[in-house]
Amino acid sequence: MTENGKKRLFIKTYGCQMNVYDSSRMTDVLAPLGYEPVDSPRGADMVILNTCHIREKASEKVFSELGRLRAFKQEREAEGGDMVLAVAGCVAQAEGEEILRRAPQVDLVFGPQTYHRLPEMVARALRSADGGGQLDIDFPVESKFDHLPEEMAAPGAAAFLSVQEGCDKFCSFCVVPYTRGAEFSRPVASVLAEARRLVEAGVQEITLLGQNVNAYHGEAETGGTPGGTWGLGRLLRALAEIEGITRLRYTTSHPRDMDDDLIAAHAEEPKLMPYLHLPVQSGSDRILAAMNRQHTADDYLRIVERLRRALPDIALSSDFIVGFPGESDADFAETLRLVTEVGYAQAYSFKYSPRPGTPAAVADEQLPEAVKAERLAGLQQLLGAQAAAFNQACVGRTLPVLLERAGRKPGQLVGRSPYMQSVHVPVPEGTQQRLIGSLFDVAIEAAYDHSLGGRLLVDDAPQHSTRARISA
Ligand code: 5AD
Ligand code: SF4
Repeated sequence: MTENGKKRLFIKTYGCQMNVYDSSRMTDVLAPLGYEPVDSPRGADMVILNTCHIREKASEKVFSELGRLRAFKQEREAEGGDMVLAVAGCVAQAEGEEILRRAPQVDLVFGPQTYHRLPEMVARALRSADGGGQLDIDFPVESKFDHLPEEMAAPGAAAFLSVQEGCDKFCSFCVVPYTRGAEFSRPVASVLAEARRLVEAGVQEITLLGQNVNAYHGEAETGGTPGGTWGLGRLLRALAEIEGITRLRYTTSHPRDMDDDLIAAHAEEPKLMPYLHLPVQSGSDRILAAMNRQHTADDYLRIVERLRRALPDIALSSDFIVGFPGESDADFAETLRLVTEVGYAQAYSFKYSPRPGTPAAVADEQLPEAVKAERLAGLQQLLGAQAAAFNQACVGRTLPVLLERAGRKPGQLVGRSPYMQSVHVPVPEGTQQRLIGSLFDVAIEAAYDHSLGGRLLVDDAPQHSTRARISA
């Protein structure tokens, strides 16, 4: 218990932004039961590991963390207390039975689609004296979004909003279609309502989330009658009409779903930020086919061309996998060529990691670790140089920055540029709290590997209210 009589809840989140969103919604679901977030598992009444299964050794990391937590749970029990220990997310979905077998200290295992049922699960866990763990890894027919509470913890200036989940693409390396289930889009009304609640809570920037977010096709209704399906472009335009929202982003997109309307929205909607994370994974058509990506390198380059025609300064980001089964030196060279042709503002790159249950994991030509490591180093060098050049080109420009939080150094705030770069700015003593949550013009004066440094361009910074908008 905390001093105010609340129960302590510690959630450790691994992996993607969808997990960050899910963890905050778990906090919201548990709040009415008296749980309050704390930042250490020691002495907590409930600990949730919200896990990720996308790449290597994810489950081993979870088991070693569970070993550490067992000691805290025993400590708690020795004090006459209790600690409900839960494993959530994609490792739970994929390896639920195994977790209960190997880690008997675990009370609850639940997947990404069932956490709206947490109150019942917790009540049962607290009642059950035998200590047997519960497993809830259904893909329920009813959506969790219909059951999540409207109340939410204070989200800050920038927030995530999950609009789409699951994936039907079945890239041959990826666990998502198995752990998150079939593609699903939230109805338009439910998305707009959550966006309005976020704005009321002080949010200015919303990032729409989905494993395949641009495949969004949500049911719309007007005045109680069905209004067809909306794509992501239309949804973004409707969100842009909500007063108080100043910035919109979305992630992660698939090249196949980058339709004309969405590209046009980038040209027409100033609130839509000029940044797009559009994973290509490889530049080799042979590997793209083996990955079941359903597009060629050229298809991707044509999309980039259309995007740049719509919005010339759009900054691009991508994911890459090196060392996919059967990838030759020539295939890898094609990836480097594509990177050189596109010119990325930033990107993520990974060594291929065989995921149990996916087709590529049983392909014959698995590559040696050393080859993967060497290719990754080569690709990261190129991507790093591109990111550094992109950041350097911002020096001398004035960029609007939404100040989100205190920086590491005293007297410093951190926010994001339109292109997703972190920007550090020094602010006058005593103004920090007041300035967080505002959008300010910043003169960019320095570029680092992963961030920018700058100076606030305001004539009367201390007088501005936290909601003041200097520019959009
Ligand atoms: N091995 C390596 N990287 C992977 N990703 C997904 N599955 C794997 C895998 N088996 C990467 C992809 C994806 C990102 C989220 O993680 O690049 O876009
Ligand atoms: Fe995984 Fe993305 Fe491919 Fe879906 S589209 S299978 S989430 S990599």
